[in-house]
Amino acid sequence: MWRPPQRIKWHPDPGSWPSAEAAARSLLYSPIRVGGTGLSSRTWVPAMVPWRASAEGHVTDANIEWYERFARGRPGAIVVEATGIREVPSGPLLRIGDDRFIPGLARLTDAVRRASGGETRLFIQLIDFLAIRRRPEPEKFFRRHLQIGDRHRAALDARDWPEDAVRERLARLPQAELAQVLDARELEALRMGYRERVTDTDLAHIRALPRTLPDLFSAAARRAREAGFDGVELHYAHAYTMASFLSARNDRADGYGGPRANRVRLPIEVYRRVREAVGADYTVGCRYLAEECIEDGMGVEDAAWFGVEFARAGMDFLSLSRGGKFEDARQPAVGASAYPYTGPSGYECMPQYVSDERGPFGRNVEPAARIRAAVRAAGFSTPVVVSGGIHGFDQAEALLREGKADLVGFARQSLADPDWFRKVKLGRGSEVRVCRYTNYCEALDQKHAQVTCELWDREALEEPGVGKTADGKRRMLPPAWPGNALPRDK
Ligand SMILES: Cc1cc2nc3c(=O)[nH]c(=O)nc-3n(C[C@H](O)[C@H](O)[C@H](O)COP(=O)(O)O)c2cc1C
Ligand code: SF4
Repeated sequence: MWRPPQRIKWHPDPGSWPSAEAAARSLLYSPIRVGGTGLSSRTWVPAMVPWRASAEGHVTDANIEWYERFARGRPGAIVVEATGIREVPSGPLLRIGDDRFIPGLARLTDAVRRASGGETRLFIQLIDFLAIRRRPEPEKFFRRHLQIGDRHRAALDARDWPEDAVRERLARLPQAELAQVLDARELEALRMGYRERVTDTDLAHIRALPRTLPDLFSAAARRAREAGFDGVELHYAHAYTMASFLSARNDRADGYGGPRANRVRLPIEVYRRVREAVGADYTVGCRYLAEECIEDGMGVEDAAWFGVEFARAGMDFLSLSRGGKFEDARQPAVGASAYPYTGPSGYECMPQYVSDERGPFGRNVEPAARIRAAVRAAGFSTPVVVSGGIHGFDQAEALLREGKADLVGFARQSLADPDWFRKVKLGRGSEVRVCRYTNYCEALDQKHAQVTCELWDREALEEPGVGKTADGKRRMLPPAWPGNALPRDK
């Protein structure tokens, strides 16, 4: 992962922990209405893919145990990992693109309800993504993948050559000369692996996205409701299809790109179709970027404007993330795919402890505050969720009191200790296992390996019945916290 060149090492400081009485009086542990559902506290576990679904995208026992473990900590809400809305194989990523996925997802909602004593609300993040291929062997790229055209022949002065000879010549060209012969997309396909964009409107299926996506999202949302989720989070963030429509780099010329009113058009059309499918009383919100954090990317002004439009359309919450784009991703190894969290924008998305002067804690708070202020100024009370490096009670409580957000997302902190929410509420914050923001978990995610945290995955491996990762070296779940079984634990 990319890290800021300043290389300043930061250590998380959760500050002081409240007594149970002080926690009970806090804003963090006060209830909040989010659309059609009520949360018992303003704590939120943002979506995190743990790579535990079956190869066909079904819910497994390991998924159930994972979310049950988080539910035992009783946060206000958990958002289930990015879940694919299409009928495309996507490895061990959850899917919801067909009714056959509903029974497994229903098992999941049931398990979370039981494990949290009915307290935690469960949402699911609905994602669409475009095709991406692995970085090819250069030989294969020149001999098979590259489509030879007049442009290549002209550049090589090889108009009459047989195609094989042109390919052969290209395969032997020095790097510097290749840059003169291949166009930017071909060079990218060679160096990073081919990647589709929403602006590839020469491709029929990309041109058709504004027609196909509303139905795909709304059918998925209808299934989520049938499976018993309390709501859906439309994934409009990071490197995926919907975020690419919102992106400042989206210059589609069909009314869905260019000025921001056009860029927000499909995200609103998707939302409306989803709303029609699930009804007015169901919670529907989105996750999107406060800033893209890339060159020529969208900044907080656009994000504030989008926030107002989402609120006006009737969305029930706005969850803000930042960065996480392909545009500045690191070059993958041959045979691997580019990963959108490996460049500077990836750092902004999941900032780790080696940082710059600003540090990794709360980098998204001020942008979120600006977006929330714009939404409020337009007369909407839509709750705003902020995440990024938040791990302490004081930090969370202060940002709520200062009106910077309405709900606080703890992603990696809840992976380090899913009992954070219970421990702090019970006045036992000193028992919290504080995340160190090392991004060990993120490195596992990048390899599509079962995600665990280094603070607990080697602990008590000999415990009877402990579930282990495929390599047998790590435990799958954090050890139980006895405090969760206290009689006063109501
Ligand atoms: C292992 C892992 C998987 C993640 N998967 C998702 C995801 O599926 N969808 C999403 O919107 N964000 C995902 N994220 C980003 C987090 O939701 C969150 O925005 C980010 O980690 C910053 O918050 P934090 O500092 O509280 O961890 C993931 C993060 C991690 C560490
Ligand atoms: S591995 Fe654990 S300590 Fe490190 S960033 Fe992830 S959750 Fe935090």
